[in-house]
Amino acid sequence: MSQPFISAKDVHFKYPDGTKALYGVDLDIYEGEIVSIVGQNGSGKTTLVKHFNGLLKPTEGDVLVGGTSVKKQPLGQLARTVGYVYQNPSLQLFCRSVRDEVSFGLKLLKVPGNEIKSTVEESLKTVGLLDKIDEYPFFLTMGEKQRVAIAAILALKPKVLIVDEPTTGQDYKMAYQFMKLFEKLNKEEGKTVIFITHEMRFSTEFAKRTVVMSNGKILLDGPSGKVFTQVDKLKEAFVAPPQISELAMKLNECGIRPDILTVDEMYQEIKQALLKKRGAINGTCN
Ligand SMILES: Nc1ncnc2c1ncn2[C@@H]1O[C@H](COP(=O)(O)OP(=O)(O)OP(=O)(O)O)[C@@H](O)[C@H]1O
Ligand SMILES: [Mg+2]
Repeated sequence: MSQPFISAKDVHFKYPDGTKALYGVDLDIYEGEIVSIVGQNGSGKTTLVKHFNGLLKPTEGDVLVGGTSVKKQPLGQLARTVGYVYQNPSLQLFCRSVRDEVSFGLKLLKVPGNEIKSTVEESLKTVGLLDKIDEYPFFLTMGEKQRVAIAAILALKPKVLIVDEPTTGQDYKMAYQFMKLFEKLNKEEGKTVIFITHEMRFSTEFAKRTVVMSNGKILLDGPSGKVFTQVDKLKEAFVAPPQISELAMKLNECGIRPDILTVDEMYQEIKQALLKKRGAINGTCN
């Protein structure tokens, strides 16, 4: 396998007030992956990903991005490489208009004005908010704020996009559209995507790989289908597998694969099992 693009090596982290949040995390993220990170509240998900763009520096251990320690990379350069969308978008937004908000990082990076204009418009179009370009971010809905925050990060054209709970404050349709957007950015632009979620359905549907955190450590890491069959470990992490995984595991005694991830896969698997049982030869259930 190729070199990982992000590599956490035995990362420990203690907040200034003495709270220890990470206890020796090792994690490699490869270019072009979509990885989901799950785990109960306070398990260290946000603390870990903030290490990937230098917002936090390890108390012990190291994080390499593009092969170089984050301790040796200027923050501005890291922000361009690894974009992090805050869990609470209000923390990220502070300008008087959506336009200023999305331009902010580009101005800091001294990008020429005409390029800023087109990039800002393009990024807002991507998140479906071009019509709000002149609005005051404070008055937007929680979901819209999150979209502005995503546009502001996309404008920097990072290689890696980290989205912390992209589905919070969104209705299901919007949350799903977000996930589709990340999938598209991954497929069409080759962006590496790391998303933190409490929606296990999104892990199974959009991430080939899932990382489960518990008490500041990584408890499970592997193909999402396999991870969600590790019932005992998931219980330890207080993570409930998605319903489709639970059903697949229960039906395993009838010969159904336990690592099924989507309703469509389940439909095919059950259909094949029924057809086989009936000795059907024309491939239909009739
Ligand atoms: N700024 C801070 N100062 C002190 N302790 C903090 C700070 N931020 C987080 N913590 C603590 O660090 C630990 C890990 O928190 P973190 O926010 O990384 O968890 P999380 O998995 O992202 O949780 P959630 O699902 O609620 O977002 C928790 O014990 C939390 O209380
Ligand atoms: Mg968090």
